[in-house]
Amino acid sequence: MSEPIEISEQSVGQAVEVALAAIAAAQDSTQLKAVRSAHLAESSALARLNASMRTVPNEQKAAAGKLVGQARARVNQAFSAREAEIVEAEDARRLAEEAVDVTALASRWRPGARHPLNLLQERIADVFVGMGWEVAEGPELESEWYNFDALNFDEDHPARAMQDTFFVEPADAHLVLRTHTSPVQLRALLAGELPVYRVAPGRVYRTDELDATHTPVFHQIEGIAVDKGLTMAHLRGTLDHFVKAMFGDEATVRLRPNYFPFTEPSAELDLWHPTFSQGPRWIEWGGCGMVNPNVLRSAGIDPDEYSGFAFGVGVERALMFRNDVKDMHDMVEGDIRFSQQFGMVV
Ligand code: PHE
Repeated sequence: MSEPIEISEQSVGQAVEVALAAIAAAQDSTQLKAVRSAHLAESSALARLNASMRTVPNEQKAAAGKLVGQARARVNQAFSAREAEIVEAEDARRLAEEAVDVTALASRWRPGARHPLNLLQERIADVFVGMGWEVAEGPELESEWYNFDALNFDEDHPARAMQDTFFVEPADAHLVLRTHTSPVQLRALLAGELPVYRVAPGRVYRTDELDATHTPVFHQIEGIAVDKGLTMAHLRGTLDHFVKAMFGDEATVRLRPNYFPFTEPSAELDLWHPTFSQGPRWIEWGGCGMVNPNVLRSAGIDPDEYSGFAFGVGVERALMFRNDVKDMHDMVEGDIRFSQQFGMVV
């Protein structure tokens, strides 16, 4: 037990003064807590004065008790009052900090959106994945051999000419930016075991000026199937299922004779749909045909044993007629407001 202190007006008054000053100086609840243990708790001067009551002679006990009791009451009261002030101030500050300004302007950050061309491309690939086909990819910087020679293009085929193809320097590297996704046909045949059922979506390049209906960079989806006994009926049936899955049961395809070096026979692929916004009509959508035996031979496949079909369609074109996008600029400019119209589904 600590030494008794003499209880006098002076000693009590001093203890009260020091305690009141400390209470008044406390600025927050942490400081107030420290004040409590220094000036109100058991080891504080006032508590010790109170404990010293036992040493006071009986005849002075009443006066000393009153003196100490009143002093403690004053300090306790001052403490409670300051505590109430601090709690109120701290509550007010917290409320102010947590306040939500419902009139504030919304954030200018817009959430991103996937590009409708990507969504459409995935949707097309999904139709084929649903039939058990695989998705393949090929390089956009392609060797001239894959892009042309192995696909049976003649040396002087017009598609090789400067106005169509981006040739890449140095010229003796014989690299081009692929002009179509058909080189993936070859890569699929060379890489995989037979039979092959693959779709290859991807970017292709041609030296067109950007205008409402052309862009030098666009997207195609290529399909190739090579198996024993495949005929044009399989091509036709596959395309029919494809367009119905994409555009609904009323959609159908028409094949018109055409020429591609890598297919024989070859056909233009037209799509018919009764309810596109432009009204019922045939829409040219791509090319197709039976894989040319020369292409099979380029990949070391015996055309007497295997046959195949292939097709290629434009993704931008599909976005135009399916979703009524009228200007190619909208697809290439990257304005997020364009993409956001489509949400996550095209
Ligand atoms: N590659 C051709 C084009 O870009 C389309 C096509 C693909 C034609 C496959 C026939 C077979 O025009």
